[in-house]
Amino acid sequence: MSENGNPSDPARPVRSGTPTADRVRGIFSDIAPSYDRFNTLSSLGIDRSWRRATVRAARLTRASRVLDLCAGTGDLTMALATQGRPGEVVGTDFVPEMLEVAREKAAAYSGPTAIAFSVADAQDLPFDDASFDVVTVAFGVRNLPDREKNFAEVLRVLKPGGRYVILEFSRPTIAPWRWMYHLYLRVVIPAIGGILTGDRSSFVYLNDSIRSFPSQSALAAELRAAGFTAISWEDRTGGIVAVHTAVK
Ligand SMILES: C[S@@+](CC[C@H](N)C(=O)[O-])C[C@H]1O[C@@H](n2cnc3c(N)ncnc32)[C@H](O)[C@@H]1O
Repeated sequence: MSENGNPSDPARPVRSGTPTADRVRGIFSDIAPSYDRFNTLSSLGIDRSWRRATVRAARLTRASRVLDLCAGTGDLTMALATQGRPGEVVGTDFVPEMLEVAREKAAAYSGPTAIAFSVADAQDLPFDDASFDVVTVAFGVRNLPDREKNFAEVLRVLKPGGRYVILEFSRPTIAPWRWMYHLYLRVVIPAIGGILTGDRSSFVYLNDSIRSFPSQSALAAELRAAGFTAISWEDRTGGIVAVHTAVK
């Protein structure tokens, strides 16, 4: 299913943007201390409005129990708590160094939502069947070697009628905007990443992974094939990112 090629299948070529768990773990444990600065600089702060759109799509109530996958340094987890105010949000990631930064943010929060973080692989979730109303993920699905496994796990932990909300880089719909954006990805992002972390190559990987990720409609088709229903998406910033919503 993955357009990225399957690393375990020698017959399929592995492109430079292909995620493998070890590679992704190594990248994020190394860049954890500078990840937030990189995000703000590289998106010029627009990422905050993308997260707000994701919280809106989650349609939370005070009773909602939310699971935020690939939570990293916790920006979406905290936006879910402060803007959506659900009963509980659990942020998970498989890189403990990223979650350490997230825990510091949560320590400064004093609102009504219960916030917890735990180490977990988004392809093998340590949660009971039908235990969450909403599952979210921001900029994480692109890094998973096997999206099918993730979709099956999310379907398992969601309650019937629960929503999976995915914020991810996507395909700008207008060609000149797409060309400019791809130039920005190729030139500016590795430069900013290299200056902030000293590791330019990780940012070349991240950019390749953006370019080889499925378009809006292709991701919707994958979600449908996995068993989700009522799939829709909203483009933001001309399709640089899309917020997909899928219902169990
Ligand atoms: C680009 S960061 C996104 C962090 C955060 N959601 C945000 O919006 O800023 C991607 C995160 O996905 C995590 N990740 C990648 N693959 C994962 C997996 N298989 N299971 C859990 N976390 C994973 C990485 O450790 C990293 O923290």
